Amino acid sequence: MLTQRMPETVSIVGAGRVGRALGRRLHELGWHVGGVASRSVSTARAAVRAIGAGQPLDSATHQILNSRVVLITTPDGAIESVAKNLAHLGGKEWSGKVVLHTSGSLDSCVLRPLAHLGAATGSMHPMQTFSNQNVPDLAKCIFGIDGSAAALQVARKMIHQMGGVAVRLSGANKAAYHAAGSFACVYVLALMEAATRLLMTQGFKRRQAMRALLPLTRQTLDNFESVGTLAAWTGPLSRGDFSTVERHVKALADFEPGYLEAYKTLSRLTAEVLAAQPGAMAKDLDRVFRAATVAKRK
Ligand SMILES: NC(=O)c1ccc[n+]([C@@H]2O[C@H](COP(=O)([O-])OP(=O)(O)OC[C@H]3O[C@@H](n4cnc5c(N)ncnc54)[C@H](OP(=O)(O)O)[C@@H]3O)[C@@H](O)[C@H]2O)c1
Repeated sequence: MLTQRMPETVSIVGAGRVGRALGRRLHELGWHVGGVASRSVSTARAAVRAIGAGQPLDSATHQILNSRVVLITTPDGAIESVAKNLAHLGGKEWSGKVVLHTSGSLDSCVLRPLAHLGAATGSMHPMQTFSNQNVPDLAKCIFGIDGSAAALQVARKMIHQMGGVAVRLSGANKAAYHAAGSFACVYVLALMEAATRLLMTQGFKRRQAMRALLPLTRQTLDNFESVGTLAAWTGPLSRGDFSTVERHVKALADFEPGYLEAYKTLSRLTAEVLAAQPGAMAKDLDRVFRAATVAKRK
């Protein structure tokens, strides 16, 4: 009974955007935040201020082991070496501890040095974007999780308390899971910026361009959610209007190469994932792209 009432303890290694956001939310939920470690103490101090609790550390020290749960929220490339360092630091003391990282592209295997010492290891990746400017709402946020049974139990508890939803990943191809997030987040951003710049070449001010595009994108996302992908599909390709596509290709040839390359690639992807006859549409697209290139050269 006594242990059930004791607050859970968590330490954080990697005091950036995700570490701060999760640390703050867990602190609000009554978790006891122990060590907050980063490479520089100023980052760790800023994180402790943002979280509202914790002990700033300029490296992962033995103090991390005072918590039962350790969250590794460093960049992906540092997780393996952090796990090795922590293993060296704690040795057999890792037995019974739980270590989770938040990478979307790496699974829990990267924490093997800690698992070998008896720690329960796993990963919990929030399918959400964390910027320095604001903390996203984690309610209903999907977290992809993998790891040992004991690690999954703790991850599920954390996620449930934060109002999120845990989805167990097969672990077979986690990087593909993460690539899906890139399509839905970073590449949407790149497309919005490219669209904004195209409008700016046609006399729009940046804010006007953003105001013109955002309702379009928001309505598309609403339609995607409410009526489904196929019913939401509009634009020249949905109507089989290849002459408009040809005009687009000729126009985009006047800009930096990335615009036209992206347009062609996204047209082919549209054919692949939306068209009733993907092969036929792909052939039509190739024909139009060739014709537009030849016409442009003349
Ligand atoms: N940002 C997102 O939208 C998002 C979303 C979901 C998942 N994730 C995942 O969450 C993890 C963290 O991402 P993030 O965006 O929060 O990164 P971030 O903002 O760049 O923060 C990473 C922090 O880790 C610290 N760090 C780097 N190497 C370290 C080391 N060897 N030991 C201790 N601390 C170290 C850095 O500290 P210093 O400043 O002191 O160098 C930095 O504060 C990544 O695995 C990422 O893939 C990110």
